[in-house]
Amino acid sequence: MLYIGIDLGTSAVKLLLVDEKGTIHAEVSKEYPVFYPQSGWSEQKPEDWHTAVIDGVRELTDGVDKSQIAGVGCGGQMHGLVVLDENNNVIRPAILWNDGRTEKQVEYLNNVIGKDKLTAFTANIAFAGFTAPKILWVKENEPENFNRIAKIMLPKDYINYILTGVHSCDYSDASGMLLLDVENKCWSEEMCEICSVKKEQLPSLFESFEVIGTLKAEIAKELGLNENVKVVAGAGDNAAAAIGTGTVGNGKCNISLGTSGTVFISSENFGVDKFNALHSFAHADGRYHLMGCMLSAASCNKWFMEDILQDNNYSAVQEKITDDKLGRNKVYFLPYLMGERSPINDTNARATFTGMTMDTTKADMLQAVFEGVAFAIRDSFEVAKSLGIDTARSNICGGGAKSALWKKIMANVLGIPLDLLKTEQGPGYGGAILAMVGCGEYKNVDEACGKLVEVADTVYPEEELTALYEKRYNNFKKIYPALKNVFKELEQ
Ligand code: XUL
Repeated sequence: MLYIGIDLGTSAVKLLLVDEKGTIHAEVSKEYPVFYPQSGWSEQKPEDWHTAVIDGVRELTDGVDKSQIAGVGCGGQMHGLVVLDENNNVIRPAILWNDGRTEKQVEYLNNVIGKDKLTAFTANIAFAGFTAPKILWVKENEPENFNRIAKIMLPKDYINYILTGVHSCDYSDASGMLLLDVENKCWSEEMCEICSVKKEQLPSLFESFEVIGTLKAEIAKELGLNENVKVVAGAGDNAAAAIGTGTVGNGKCNISLGTSGTVFISSENFGVDKFNALHSFAHADGRYHLMGCMLSAASCNKWFMEDILQDNNYSAVQEKITDDKLGRNKVYFLPYLMGERSPINDTNARATFTGMTMDTTKADMLQAVFEGVAFAIRDSFEVAKSLGIDTARSNICGGGAKSALWKKIMANVLGIPLDLLKTEQGPGYGGAILAMVGCGEYKNVDEACGKLVEVADTVYPEEELTALYEKRYNNFKKIYPALKNVFKELEQ
């Protein structure tokens, strides 16, 4: 049978057609715009996702025996606030995971309600990108929109609604709303009250591999697919990527270098980061995970190449960064183009280049971009280490992981081997695996991952280079604390 895996990302939706043995038959990507109506804000139109998914599925299944398609699973960008009215029409553009407008609401939740209470209710504290502060923002700033809200959804759940007519959410994605009691996997009564959310405004909760429904008749017709195609609840993109890279069970790690950069540590048991720097979320395998999320990772590379250098030839600039230059760069880059979440939780933080001299080249600056992202990922590893989690190796996926140079920098900054999987499209492949489990091809996620995920290549750290990067990381760590207050003043 065939399964459609959807990765509803920030820059594009990526779709895969996969059979039950894990062979990829087709791949399609459809881009859509992000809108930045004010600095630090970021929005998308759910209608654009809808069009891209429908066009994408049509293209993906063109010329394929459609009777073979059994299931669909979607991994999606997390935390985005999608609000629907009583007729299920979108009320306003979705406010995305990397939007920093909710500083005031985050301050209220963390300091007036209090971090202890939030942690007791949800296992997490408030971050600007999380959904609950955005609901409060809409209530305060757009009361007419707030009063029209009949359903609150996350991005991939909107797609699942379009496909099936069912308002659903899975536990991994719901964890990032700050409305879920993560340990007990139910909506938190207290948080709903704090955010003026009624239970009926929230979708029904499912495990990621559970079937929420089948294709609506008109959608099946539009796509030329059978009405009995099953749709599973799917997962937040990081949990889906973890499934796609076999990061399941206890103590495994996945790094995703997408628009965001994440460190995902799977866990058998529920646990909370006592420093509140890492998120404590449910996993799509039915268990839990800890996660650090930086807001701008591969997007720093795209920004520097396309917006600043106005150069689409990524490999030509990367070729100038020869091995002898690694670990010796005098230029440093803070990657906080959208403020930062983990571990510094600072919406005012900004990107900077430091250390340039007259002989600095654009290649040195690009190298600093790669290194700055790697150092910021290391910051989350350091938090995990302080919690007693010693990560000896990790999987790596996402657009940034396509660059051999970036992977080498990353392995040496972290000082651990990085495994690259045969199928590098983490969230889409994970979505397809979840659909296979939902349709009964495998008895559970562990079995499916064991059979379908294979390591293709490993990048090992080199002792000398790791030592050079240790020194550079210690320098990098001094830059943000020195600028923190300046960033705050610059925003005023
Ligand atoms: C995770 C997060 C991002 C988005 C990106 O907490 O905000 O990784 O899911 O798609």
